[in-house]
Amino acid sequence: MIRIGIPREVHPGERRVAATPQTVLRLRKLGFEVAVQTGAGDEINCSDAMYREADATIVKDVRQLWEESSVVLKVRPPEQHPVLGVHEAELLREEGWLIGFIWPAQNRELLARLSARRATVFAMDCVPRITRAQKMDTLSAMANIAGYRAVVEAANHFPRFFGGQMTAAGRIDPAKVMVIGAGVAGLSAIGTARALGAIVKAFDPRSATREQVRSMGADFLELNLTEDGEGAGGYAKEMSDAFLQAELALFAAQAMEVDIIITTALIPGKKAPTLITTGMVESMKPGSVIVDLAAEQGGNCAMTRPGEVVTHKGVTIIGYTDLPSRMASMSSQLYGATLVAMLGELLSGDGLTVNLENQVVRGALVLHDGELTWPPPTPPPPPEPGVASQNGVSTPVHAGAQNVINHERTEGVNLLWVALAGAALLGIGFIAPASTLGHFTVFMLACFVGWQLVWNVKPALHTPLMSVTNAISGIILLGGMLQLSNSAFSMTTILSAVAVLIAAINIAGGFLVTKRMLAMFRK
Ligand code: NAI
Repeated sequence: MIRIGIPREVHPGERRVAATPQTVLRLRKLGFEVAVQTGAGDEINCSDAMYREADATIVKDVRQLWEESSVVLKVRPPEQHPVLGVHEAELLREEGWLIGFIWPAQNRELLARLSARRATVFAMDCVPRITRAQKMDTLSAMANIAGYRAVVEAANHFPRFFGGQMTAAGRIDPAKVMVIGAGVAGLSAIGTARALGAIVKAFDPRSATREQVRSMGADFLELNLTEDGEGAGGYAKEMSDAFLQAELALFAAQAMEVDIIITTALIPGKKAPTLITTGMVESMKPGSVIVDLAAEQGGNCAMTRPGEVVTHKGVTIIGYTDLPSRMASMSSQLYGATLVAMLGELLSGDGLTVNLENQVVRGALVLHDGELTWPPPTPPPPPEPGVASQNGVSTPVHAGAQNVINHERTEGVNLLWVALAGAALLGIGFIAPASTLGHFTVFMLACFVGWQLVWNVKPALHTPLMSVTNAISGIILLGGMLQLSNSAFSMTTILSAVAVLIAAINIAGGFLVTKRMLAMFRK
């Protein structure tokens, strides 16, 4: 049986642990043996007895725990062990597996140490943000908690209510909150601040976030500049200088007005952009609070000190870098659940295998038997409009003579089709009886509406669209059944039967697909 080891975290101030008794139970169900270092769950109020109850073995000796585990699950990247005086990477057994936060771009030396152990290492911070990997998306799970906690920390330092009140002693205005960056943490902060009753405004360069922000009851701040920040994989791209300047002007105006600023702006792998200058901090009302979630990556506020709370001219600037750890029991539970999902992805039969074809596994794999496998190859982007694909390889189409000729040819062919269709319609109009013509017009209009509905809608909207097509199929089904019951056996009966059959398949298929999609969101 494969043994999984859960050591106690040694990073100063880290309260999280890589497995809770609940996730241990799930690991046991997957067929793993689980060993937990004594006291590992102290900070999340989970005693050794609770882990034992979940069928884990409690190990006192740290070296023994690392040595006897085929796979070690950790929260923080391995570091110097304060008690043993050795690096945790050296505690990992030869050819052992390690899963946890690694941050490979920032931790080259750690990768070299693990490589010397011929380790296989999966970085939970490198799990690609794709739909299939949602249950393994640790970054989002932690950012969600960080966004919530940022508002709670702000409320703790803010000397007023968040929500407005009308009391006998006078009126209290609601607090005004500005959230910069509407990613996972930003949206979570918006939701929490709105729930507390604040007036919330938000800004993000990705235009796709506009509707998400509005749907959460916040105002989306607009910039009179057309540059979309949508980059690869649902992340933002680096913005132009002109955009950043316009943004600074927008935030300078807002800083004088709002009471709380929560900044989450980040482009993966880059230093966080400075969006709140010292001047802006000084222009804020005394008592205002700034929570800088990007503190660890250099901070979005010029005055942020990572890990600290500073006060400047009455404005409090919070630069905590351990927000999820401040809600350790919940974040350990969610983190542990993403690890269970990851192990489930790696499990094949009775053993663990590295399937390089699996996009999630390949994305997270940073070392394979000591070989550096990070960064993973970028998956080919979907072909863009104006990009022709030959033999599966996309090549940009250049606006040249050939292109113009092709374009003209396609237009000619299109015109020919339109002319032929027009002639056919005219022909039908001349020979068909008036009643058929009426039905035919309705049929043509239905085809047109159907085409517009299905082909002109983005794939993301196909689920809500399914209910529309099911409704249309329902109408067809009813019509077909009425025709079947009314007429003697004729061409109409055959066509009605076909319509009933196809509409029934469509409705049943729609429900089946919906059921499968809902199952994806269930545990
Ligand atoms: P995300 O990538 O989902 O969101 C970042 C957002 O910033 C994106 O929507 C992006 O469009 C936006 N952005 C990029 N450049 C911008 C600009 N110039 N102006 C305005 N917005 C801009 O990231 P996520 O997961 O929401 O995390 C946000 C931040 O929170 C990150 O810096 C992350 O490291 C940090 N974080 C901090 C924690 C803590 O304890 N302090 C814990 C967890 C996350």
